[in-house]
Amino acid sequence: MTDTMTLSQRADALEEKMARDLDYIVVKSRLHSWAEGDMSSPGSVVPQLKANPNARVLMGDDPRLPAMPEKPTLIDFFKYRFGPSAHLLQSARHAVKNGLPEKMVLACLLHDIAGVGFIRGDHGYWGAQLVEPYVDAEVTWAIRAHQVLRFYADESVGYEYPEAYVTLFGADYETDPYIDEDYKRMKNHKWYMSGRMITVNDIYSFDPNVHVELEEFTDIIGRNFRQPSQGLGFDNSPVAHMWRAIIRPAKYL
Ligand SMILES: [Fe+2]
Ligand SMILES: [Fe+2]
Repeated sequence: MTDTMTLSQRADALEEKMARDLDYIVVKSRLHSWAEGDMSSPGSVVPQLKANPNARVLMGDDPRLPAMPEKPTLIDFFKYRFGPSAHLLQSARHAVKNGLPEKMVLACLLHDIAGVGFIRGDHGYWGAQLVEPYVDAEVTWAIRAHQVLRFYADESVGYEYPEAYVTLFGADYETDPYIDEDYKRMKNHKWYMSGRMITVNDIYSFDPNVHVELEEFTDIIGRNFRQPSQGLGFDNSPVAHMWRAIIRPAKYL
């Protein structure tokens, strides 16, 4: 295994070896099954149990993944669960260079954590929800808004529709109606420019030659992210289960 493998690739590579060494059965989540075009029932473990009656489904920690502390912090998730986060670190540094306030630096640092943590589609909405209990309302709003605003140019800040999107989605791509409707709501909102600043620092920030350490933002996280003392996932917040899903992504039930 190498550092450049994604979490999913690392998990798959280890799966084969571990399944041989240990008696456990991994049942992929519905999300994972769909993503692989597998519409069959992910719940049937009967054949595998018959083949190996001593095997058990995963209900505890996943032996394929790095162990996490009992009371995981945001930084632990960056270290042990999130995929490559260079893009986020570079966005945050870009925000510092542009003189954005601390909480907006945090917003840039966290804007894509849903994508690197567990899901790409609608990642701005998921990411905003993940952090909502722990950050300033403006940070949550801005992270949600970046999902929408990145599809719309704003000449006042030199933001153009990303060239990359033409390549990725095709020149004829049209945004979904719910995105258009959210844009109408967001463009006149008092925090519009905060969401816009994420898109500005997002698009131009990626440089494969720039290396930014997470430690550069330890203090900003400390001052702007209300880390729950029980650990993310165990604080009985409305989103605790989402953090637990990242800790144990293949938990059977
Ligand atoms: Fe994003
Ligand atoms: Fe981004």
